[in-house]
This record gives sequence, C-alpha cells and structure tokens, in this order.
Amino acid sequence: MVSAEPLVRPKPPAWRRLEELAHGPLPTILAHVAGGGGPRFELDGLFFELSRLGIPEPVWQALDELARATGVAEFRDRMARGEVVNPSEGRAATHMALRAPDGRAGLGPMAQVADWLRSGRFDHVLHLGIGGSALGPALLIDALGRDGDGPEVRVVANVDGEAFHRACHGCRPQRTAVIVVSKTFTTVETRLNLRSALAWLAAGGVEDPMGQVVAVTAAAERAVEAGVQSLRILEFAPSVGGRFSLWSAVGLPFAVRCGMAAFTALLDGAAAMDRHFLTTPWQRNVPMRAAAADLWFAAILGRPTRAVFAYDERLRWLVPYLQQLEMESNGKGVASDGARLAWPTAPVTWGGTGTDAQHAVFQLLHQGTHQDPVEFVAVAQPGHPLAPEHHRQLLANCLAQGAALAAGRGFAEALAASGGDPAVAAQRVLPGNRPSATILIDRLAPDRLGALLAFYEARTVSLAAMLGVNPFDQWGVELGKELAAALGRGEDLTDPVTQALQDFIRRAQAKAA
Ligand code: F6P
Repeated sequence: MVSAEPLVRPKPPAWRRLEELAHGPLPTILAHVAGGGGPRFELDGLFFELSRLGIPEPVWQALDELARATGVAEFRDRMARGEVVNPSEGRAATHMALRAPDGRAGLGPMAQVADWLRSGRFDHVLHLGIGGSALGPALLIDALGRDGDGPEVRVVANVDGEAFHRACHGCRPQRTAVIVVSKTFTTVETRLNLRSALAWLAAGGVEDPMGQVVAVTAAAERAVEAGVQSLRILEFAPSVGGRFSLWSAVGLPFAVRCGMAAFTALLDGAAAMDRHFLTTPWQRNVPMRAAAADLWFAAILGRPTRAVFAYDERLRWLVPYLQQLEMESNGKGVASDGARLAWPTAPVTWGGTGTDAQHAVFQLLHQGTHQDPVEFVAVAQPGHPLAPEHHRQLLANCLAQGAALAAGRGFAEALAASGGDPAVAAQRVLPGNRPSATILIDRLAPDRLGALLAFYEARTVSLAAMLGVNPFDQWGVELGKELAAALGRGEDLTDPVTQALQDFIRRAQAKAA
C-alpha cells in the first residue's frame, strides 16, 4: 500500500550539535572580529568578507561535519560528472559543462546568429522570456550593456501587455529583431508575447515577421510548431535548468549587445569560479562556506529572510535574479527522496540597491525585531564618468551599514544624543550584533560578473545538498499555472473567494465597456 504521509528525514548528529551551539553562549560579532574575525577570501578580483556574520570556529567545525555528513562534495562531483542529480525529472545538471573550456563547442551557431543580429541590420532586439529565460540576460544587459556596440536589447517578461507595449516604444519594426527564449516553449507568457511581437512586426509593414525571430529553447520541435524557422533556432540541453541557463544560448541577447568576446569572458570568469568550487577543500571553498553560513542562519537559528543589497546601480537586477535562483531552487519542504524535512529550508531572499534602500527599509534592519543576515555587494571602481565623490559616498555608505549593524549604539551614547531624555534615548538605541557579509568586486567586467553568478549558483547547490532538497526542479509552481490556465480559458473556479474577485472584475470591466 502506498502511504500518503511521507517519512520525516531525521536530523544528522552534526545538526544536533549545531542546535546545541545555537543555544549559546555565542560570542558577539564585535568579539568575534576583535578575536581575529574571519573567514575572508580573495579570489580573482572578488573579495568575500564574512567576519561580521559572527560565526565562531566551533560552529564552522560543526557545519563542516554537516557538509561531510550530507555529502555536499559528493553531490557537487556527481553534478560535475553529469550524473542524474535531479531525480524527480531524471536529469543531470550540466550548466557548469557549458562554461568549461572544453565544453564550448555549441558556441559556433550562437556566434553566427549574434553576428547576424549585430551586422547593422537591426537597431533593437526585443528579448521575450520569463523567469530563468529573462532574469540572467536582463541582469547582464543592465550591468554591462552600456559598454556594448550592438543593438539595444529590451527584455519583455510579463504577460501584462503593458510590458510589451512599453518595450517596443521607439522601436521601428523593420529594424527590430525578436529573440524568444523558453526552455519548454510552453510558457503561456512567452508564447503570448511572441504572438504580440509578430503582430506588431506585421502591423509595422514587415513582410516576413518570422524572418526576424530567433528562438532559444530546449524544445526545438515546439518552436518549429509555433512557426519559428529552424535555421533560426538555437538549442540547449534539457539538463540545463532554466535559472542556470545563462551560460547557454540563453545568453544570446548579451552576446548581441556586447559581442561574443564579452560572452566568452563571462564564461571564463564562471569557469574559474567552478575550478575553485570543484577543487578547493571545504576550509577555503568560498561557495561551500557561504552555503554553510546560509544554513546556520536559516535552518539552525531560524532566521526567515536573507537580504542582499547591491551598492551599484549596474547590479540592480542582482536581487531579482537571486530571488529566482535561491528561492525556486531551495524553497522546498520535501527531500529529493520524498521524505518530509523537519527543518526550515531556503530563507526569503529580498533586498534592493544602496543607497536607496537605506532610506526605505534599513530602519527595520537596524532596530526591528528581526535579526536576519544581510549581504552587501559593491564594486570598487565606478563605471560612470561623474565626479569621484559619487562613488566615494556610495562605498562609504556601504561600509558604514555593515559597521553600524554590527556595533549598534548603546544607551549612554543615545542619551547624550537625546538631550538626556531617556524615553527618546531608548528609541535611539541600536541593538547591534546584526550579521552581515560583504562581497567586493574590483571592477565590473564580464569575467567578474561570471565569477559572481557562478559563486551564487555553487552556493545555492551546496545549500541544497546540506538541506537535502533537489535544487533543480520547481514542482510548486505547477498548480498555480493549471488554475490560471482554467481561468484564462474562461472557466470559473468553484471557491467563493475567486468568484467574488471575478465578480468585481466583471462589474468593473462592464463599466468600462
Ligand atoms: O514557472 C517556473 C519556470 O518554469 C521557471 O523555472 C523558468 O525559468 C520559467 O518558468 C520559464 O520557463 P521557460 O524557459 O520554459 O519558458
């Protein structure tokens, strides 16, 4: 008989040890730093300063034990060998192979298409795709596209027609190409945006709209069925997960804007990070250590969120990109063998850009009742020609936030700053001892960004192995898609809340009509 109740996965002994340690006493962050701090790592232009996470050595040791007990290195190696590491879909996860120096054979067709799109025939490219088929390209183009000399790329993801309507503003159909990216080629949003793009091209006098469309997919037959000409289809393997697919032809828009050399440099940076991830022992393995820290905060201390602030406008897409990478990969409650997990998994990834976020959400970080870890990402060299004062202020603010979170402000100091009024002083106290990590990049270039994103991928996969989840599937999104499809076909759902909402929409739309 098949039981409906999954077994509960027991906690390994190292997990129990971590729970004991969490009950303290733990040194404060300031004491940890005063005692030498660490760890901190420097790697190919990237500097990872993890001291202010305040994780003491005994905790690191227990995390090391847990990493061994949960087979993080074995999972990594099985992934690198192309074995099935995504059992629910029976697939390997081959994104690292795409950027390995001996794995780039597939770049030829992509380079040809990029050359055609860069030949001067087009001024604009509309990139249609959503989730992993949009976030990576959007991040790269926003971060580095200004230095490119190819057509301007505009990303359209949302099914909301407003997204397409805005994106094509100022584009001339005759001189606009469309890149449609969908791993499955079944995604409703992307297919509808493709239809609208074709209609827009046709309305603009383009005789053969499909002649201006390139598709990137792991399901070429569906792209052909949708009418895309087979010579303009770039394929990637089903074993490349959507949110890990930037390194395949999904990165085409970036290659179109910035050239194949920039795309290759991106792969080089990622490959260097992969070498580090694959060959470095746990003690110095940066993604593995970062994943272990994530586990400590989320699963052992039960901190429900992880905030990331990019102190660089060029990285404003980093948080949305990480939200998908981290939450779609590790936001699960069941292990890959079906056992129920008795611990929290991925925290909520959120954040924004500094300094804007300081004037909006940092109040909660400094004085709120949460004590969730914060990550700062900044670039030492500016990319703009404005007065150096801008970047000096930007970095000063970034460094100041981490220092303030750790140190806080005591009552005596607050009292002096409050004219001796204890009630006001109490409100000006900052508890401090709030954990943060800082990642600095020397300059923002394709190889650096490649290394940074590969670091986050490796960290996400390592955390998955420690938590016991499959980071490569995303079954949780299916039910919502099915219900949306039913409603989209005009079917009614039987629940009274949906009916009340539909009723309001119908009444409001009838008024407009
Ligand atoms: O709905 C989730 C998801 O499947 C993501 O995992 C994926 O990145 C996105 O939709 C887009 O899927 P596709 O590339 O197949 O259009």
